[in-house]
Parts: sequence; structure tokens; C-alpha cells
Amino acid sequence: MCGIVGYIGDRDCADVLVNSLEKLEYRGYDSAGIAVLENGVIKVEKCKGRLENLRNKMAADGKPYGHVGIGHTRWATHGEPSDINSHPHGNKRVTIVHNGIIENYRQIKEFLISEGYSFVSETDTETVAKLLDYYYTGDPVDTIIKVLAEIKGSYALGIMFRDFPDRIFAVRKDSPLIVGKGEHENFIASDVPAIMQYTRDYYLLDTNDIAVLTKENIEFFNIHKERLEKKLNTADWDVDAAEKGGYEHFMLKEINEQPTAVKTTITPRITDSMPDFSAEGFDAAKLSSYNKIYIVACGTAMHAGMVGKYVIEKLARIPVIVDIASEFRYRDPLIDKEDLVILISQSGETADTKAALELAKLNGADTLAIVNVKGSSIARAADMVVYTHAGPEISVASTKAYMVQISVMYLLAFELAYGTGRISKEQCEKYTKELQNIPSVIKEAIGLEKDCQFIASKLLNADSLLYIGRGLDYASSMEGSLKLKEISYIHSESYAAGELKHGTISLITENMPVIAVVTQKDLEEKTISNIKEVKARGAMVILVCGEDVVVEDKVADYIIRLPKAEQMLMPMVAAVPLQLIAYYTAVLKGNDVDKPRNLAKSVTVE
Ligand code: F6R
Repeated sequence: MCGIVGYIGDRDCADVLVNSLEKLEYRGYDSAGIAVLENGVIKVEKCKGRLENLRNKMAADGKPYGHVGIGHTRWATHGEPSDINSHPHGNKRVTIVHNGIIENYRQIKEFLISEGYSFVSETDTETVAKLLDYYYTGDPVDTIIKVLAEIKGSYALGIMFRDFPDRIFAVRKDSPLIVGKGEHENFIASDVPAIMQYTRDYYLLDTNDIAVLTKENIEFFNIHKERLEKKLNTADWDVDAAEKGGYEHFMLKEINEQPTAVKTTITPRITDSMPDFSAEGFDAAKLSSYNKIYIVACGTAMHAGMVGKYVIEKLARIPVIVDIASEFRYRDPLIDKEDLVILISQSGETADTKAALELAKLNGADTLAIVNVKGSSIARAADMVVYTHAGPEISVASTKAYMVQISVMYLLAFELAYGTGRISKEQCEKYTKELQNIPSVIKEAIGLEKDCQFIASKLLNADSLLYIGRGLDYASSMEGSLKLKEISYIHSESYAAGELKHGTISLITENMPVIAVVTQKDLEEKTISNIKEVKARGAMVILVCGEDVVVEDKVADYIIRLPKAEQMLMPMVAAVPLQLIAYYTAVLKGNDVDKPRNLAKSVTVE
């Protein structure tokens, strides 16, 4: 939520900031703004709405010109989206951009008002800017340290002091921030893709590490003003990974990247057709010894966890509880040191998932994070990490990250099942080989694009939809439903097919399309019966099913036949047309597919 950037170097700073913000717009798009030091004066340009509005405004007003600056793209928390509430905030002496939430901002604001300060915005950020001004000693690092002692909450801050025109400052706690190192130029950003067009080298900041950037140098200090040495990282992503590469939307590009993403994620974890997490340093015996496993995540990542539950329980016979992170953290869950808590997160920064991880550690459980973004907070805090290799996911609606999360769930399930002696080596090899074959099946499923486009044209006028399925197909239908509603804005719900007749079936009319997922042989007949029940009540039925599912005439209005794969792996195949149906419905409705309203990619507030 919110993206921040900063630049110091020889280039036209406004251009660099806007280019970098463009890559961060997925983090929020309620407003955008930049501050640039021009002839010793901090000039701010900001406005409500997308970055495009800021571009247009600067084209009309003239953009600030200089070589040092900070920028922001906002997902509103405190204060409505407006010009006034847009970042940067501050005064003539100090200006900041902020991602996060300052929990005690009211007390600070009251104090500052009593000290004669006045405020123009409703934001928590302005209080930090004014507090920096209040504590200003003439030494920026001392000043920042004083402020850090006062503020509570989460923050990634980019800071400029007018009196220090040759440097920018950055600090973070519980919100992501990286420091990019270039040749005679340096950067700060919420995320690596923002600066990839300029440099691939970056440093990670730990809690309350303060970075001081000049054009030629980067220095780091801890909260005691002691100098820190940091390891330089290099992004191994392709520069093109953060570009649309000829696709109309990132979402479509990312759907098409799924075969490669899965292959890249699983290949390093397979040796001789067996799962192999030795590079992750996993103790195989320990891994199979847990009493129970929690899988905790949010949204799409939680749906990946549901697939994990089914396969781990089925193959390894270890009880698995899947929980929504925002519920888990407040319900005093029964965890102890005999348990494993798996956290799944694309960004590795989701506030609720992070809090769940901390709670698990507090209760003595071992923690394993499945994360896409390297060096993210969740990855760093967990005892064990499996990085998924999806590359940057830019579209707010997750597709390839989900797919790679599931692929890791399968590999883990195989490892656990073999480790507990529930499956033989031969069975484990067989399953692993089937998983290795999945990228090519996903590719085939992408070939269903035109059919999905056609189905989408049938859904345009629906006010509401139901997705149904049983077992693994229920997990798939939950993800299909979320994808559709989040980008098409058509209400939809997912239901366990057998549960419909306990209430929900009363909603069924000819105006309520039903998308049914049927890929599991043992449940096929049961779900088909449920489909007949909704069909008999007038629903238009779209059936997404395995290639050999027997479907009598008139059971479904439209059928999407999935390419063949091992039945247990079918969620990875079924996900594709469900993503494409959601995508094309949103496209046909003229929605902003990659940036659906009210959402942001990385949810760093609870
Ligand atoms: C939906 C979507 C979200 C995320 C959720 C968790 O398409 O992307 O539901 O899955 O916000 O985000 P991460 O995985 O970054 O923790």
C-alpha cells in the first residue's frame, strides 16, 4: 500500500521519479506526488488520482527541475484521496513520503499543535514531517533518530532536508524499502521493479536502519548512530519482467508466464524425480514430525493454502488447518512447539500474515514462509523459507504467484508424505514427475483463451454469480470467484457444491449464472447432481471440467474441457480458464484490469 521512491544523481529527477512510480502504481493509485530540490528550494507537485493526472498537471504547470527528489503513489488510509492529502508532506525545511501507518499520530499532532504547528492535511504522515521539523538539530541522522523514538506503527520513509541538498534519507519499520545503488546515482524504492530500469543492485534495510544517500555514496546507521555494513544484492529478474512485453495487460502477460514460473520454481527443488529441499536447509525428519500444520495467508495466497491442506492431509495424513491471517492473529489459536506454521505470501509484506508469523513464533511453533519477494519481511522473519520464482507480479490480481504457491504446496506434500512413510519412493517419484509435466499442461490450458473470452461475453450482464465445486475443486472455485469479483466488479460467491441446498440455492434464478468446477473423479457424480439441481432452477451453467467427465445433454450451457493431468494436480490446470474468464469479463466491461478500484497489491496495513 503506497509506493515510495527517491533519487539522487545527474538525471532529470522528476522523470526518474515518475518512471519509477509507474512501476509502483500497483501499490496504490489514489494520488501521486513528487518533491524535487530546485535551486535550493523543495518544490512539490502532487494531485489526486493516478500518476497520469500528475503527469498531465506537470505538463501544464511545468515540472520541477533538479537532481534530488522523492516521490509517492498513495493508497489512502488516513484522510480521503485528495490533492491536500497527497504526499509529499512537510514544510520548507523538511519534506517526506511515507508508506505505512503512524498509530500514535493523534497524540503527536496534538502535541505539535500545542507547540504552534498547524496542519493542512488529515494524514498521519504530516505529523511525522512536522515532528522532524520540531526535532531538527542541524544533523539529519540525529533528528531522524529522535523522531523514531516517538513514532509508533509502520513506516517506510523517504526524507529530504532543504539544508542538505546533496542527500536523501530513508528508514523503515514493517513497511518495505530498498536502497538502489547505481553509477554516480542512487535510489530508494518500495520494491525492486521500480528501479530496475536504472540498476539491479540494491541493499535491504532492517528495522530502523537509516540510509543516507548521496550521488556517489550510501551510508547506513543503526538507531544508535553506529555505522552499518550491508550486503549488496543483485536482482536476478529480467528487466523485461516488469514490462508488459506486448500484452495489453500485466494480468494477461502473467497468466501466460505461468508455465515458466512453475518450472523455475520447482526445478531447483527436484533431484532424481524426488522433492529436494536440501538447498533450503530443511531437516527432512523434522519436517515430517509435526503434530499439526497451520497454513496462514490472505486472499489468493490463502486459497493456495486450501489446496495445500487437501494434498498434505490426503498424502501425508498430517492434520492441516488453513486460516485467514487476519482471523488467526486474534483468535488465540492452539499452537505449540510441536506445530509447523506455514505462511504464504507473494509480497512477503502483508501485515496480517506477518503478524500471524510473529504470533506463531511467540508460541514456539516452527515457521516456514513461502514467499515470492526476496528479502521481504516475512521471508526474513521465518525460520525456513521457500522462495517461489514467479518474478515480479505487477497486476493487482494475482495469477502466477498463486500458481507457483500451489506448486510448492504439492512438492511439500510429497516430501511430507514420503517422510512420514505414507507413500513409497516410487509413488513419490511418480507424483513428482507428474508435477514436472504440469507446465506443459498449463500451456495447453492457456490455449482455451478464446473459449474463455466467449464465456466472459455471456457473464457481462450478470449481477451475481455462484462458483461451486467439491474438495480440491472447491478450493479452485474459491479462487475463481475471488478473481472474477475483484476485477470485473460482478458479485460472486463460492460454495461447496453439497452445501447449496442448505440455504444458498434459494438465490438461484435464470439471472444467476453458476460456474461449476469438476475435475475430481471420486466427486464427479456428486457435483454433477448438484449442477442438475441448479440447472433445474433455471441457472445458466458453465462447466469447467476434466476431459473425460461424463456430462449428459442439457446439464451445462457451456463446457470448458481441461487438458489432462494427474487428478490431484488439476487445480493448477483449472485455475487457468478461471483466471481467463475473470480477465476477459473485466476487459469486456472496460475495467482497469491491472488496477482494480479500491485495491492495492501489497497490503501492509491490517
Ligand atoms: C487477489 C490477491 C490478494 C492477495 C492477498 C495476499 O488477487 O492478489 O488476495 O493474494 O492480498 O497478498 P500476499 O500474497 O502478498 O500476502
